[in-house]
Amino acid sequence: EKGNHRHYMIKEIYEQPEVVARTLAPHLDIEQAPALDWKAQQRLTITACGTAFYAGLVAKYWFERLGRLPVEIDVASEFRYREAPLPEKGLMIVVSQSGETADTLAGLRYAKAHGQTVLAVVNVPTSSMAREADLVAQTHAGPEIGVASTKAFTCQLATLFALALQAGRARGHVSAQEAQALAETVQRVPGLMHEAMALEPQIEALARDLAKARDVLYFGRGAAFPIAMEGALKLKEISYIHAEGYAAGELKHGPIALIDETTPVVVVAPYDHLFEKTISNMQEVAARGGRIVLITDEEGAAHAHIDTLATLVLPKMDPLVAPIAYAVPVQLIAYHTAVFMGKDVDQPRNLAKSVTVE
Ligand code: F6R
Repeated sequence: EKGNHRHYMIKEIYEQPEVVARTLAPHLDIEQAPALDWKAQQRLTITACGTAFYAGLVAKYWFERLGRLPVEIDVASEFRYREAPLPEKGLMIVVSQSGETADTLAGLRYAKAHGQTVLAVVNVPTSSMAREADLVAQTHAGPEIGVASTKAFTCQLATLFALALQAGRARGHVSAQEAQALAETVQRVPGLMHEAMALEPQIEALARDLAKARDVLYFGRGAAFPIAMEGALKLKEISYIHAEGYAAGELKHGPIALIDETTPVVVVAPYDHLFEKTISNMQEVAARGGRIVLITDEEGAAHAHIDTLATLVLPKMDPLVAPIAYAVPVQLIAYHTAVFMGKDVDQPRNLAKSVTVE
C-alpha cells in the first residue's frame, strides 16, 4: 500500500534507507555471502538492462578499484548476440530487479553455455534468473510497484559494493582492516540517504523550472557518470522530457553544442579527486549561458565557484560510496518534475514493469 504517500514511486524512494540497510547486512557477512572463487578470475563479465545496467556500470568502478579485477560490461540486448569470447571458467554477474528480463535471461544462458559461473543479483528470489543462475545474491528491496526503478537500483548498488569488497579481500588488494573500515563506511550510507531526503523541498521548487525544459543534460565523471545516466533515464521515463547522461569529459566532443539558456544541465559531482575537472567543464557550460543544477557536498559547494540554478548539498561521505546516496536527488528531481507536470509517475506511458519479450 502507498500509505501516506501520493505515489508508489515516492514511497519507494523513501524506503531506500531501510531496504539498503536490509540488503547490506547479509552481503557484508562473509559467512552468508555467495562463495565465489574471486582469486581465480582474470576478468569479470556483467550484463543487465536499463537501470540495472547502470548499477553494473557503477560496480565496474568498484570491482576494478577494490578487486583489481577487469570488468567487461554491456547491455544484455547487445551481449546476447555478440558471440563474445568469455574467459575459461569465468564469472558472469547478471543484475535484474524482476529476474525475468528476456535479454538478461538470454545473456545468462549464453554465459552458462560458455562455461561461466553465473551469479544473479536479483530482487525476486523465485524468478527465472534466480533459478537458472549458479549463485544468487538477493537484493532485499521488497516488491517494487512503481514502473521506474528506484529502491531496487540502490539495493543493487549496495549488493555489488559488498561483492566488490569481498573480491578485493579475497584477491589480497584490501586488508582485513580496510575491509572492516569499508564495511562501516557503506553501512553509514542508509543514514546519508535519509539525510538526502531533506533536499526534497528545494528539489520541488527546482522542478517547476525543469518542467519547462525540452531537454535536460546530465553530467558526471567516474562512478558519478552512471548516476548521471540513471538520472537522465528516470527523467525521460516519467516526465517525457528528453534527457541524456554524458561523461563530463565528453562535453567538448559534442554535447557542448546543445548548451544554451533553455537547456538545464544537472551535474553529479561529489567532492572527490575528479571534482575540479568536472567543475572546469561546468565553467564552460556557464560561459555559454547554461543553467546548472549542481549536486555535491559542502566542500564541493564551497569550491565550485560557478553560478547555479540550484546547488543541492548532500552530507559529506566517502566518494567510493557516493553513487548510492547520490541516486536519491536524481530520483527526486525526476519524480517532482513529473508530478509538477501532472504525469502518471507510477504508470508511465509505453513502459512495462517487466520486459519479458525482447
Ligand atoms: C528504469 C527501469 C528499467 C529496468 C529494466 C531492467 O526505471 O525500470 O530500465 O531497469 O527494464 O529490468 P530488470 O531489473 O527487472 O531486469
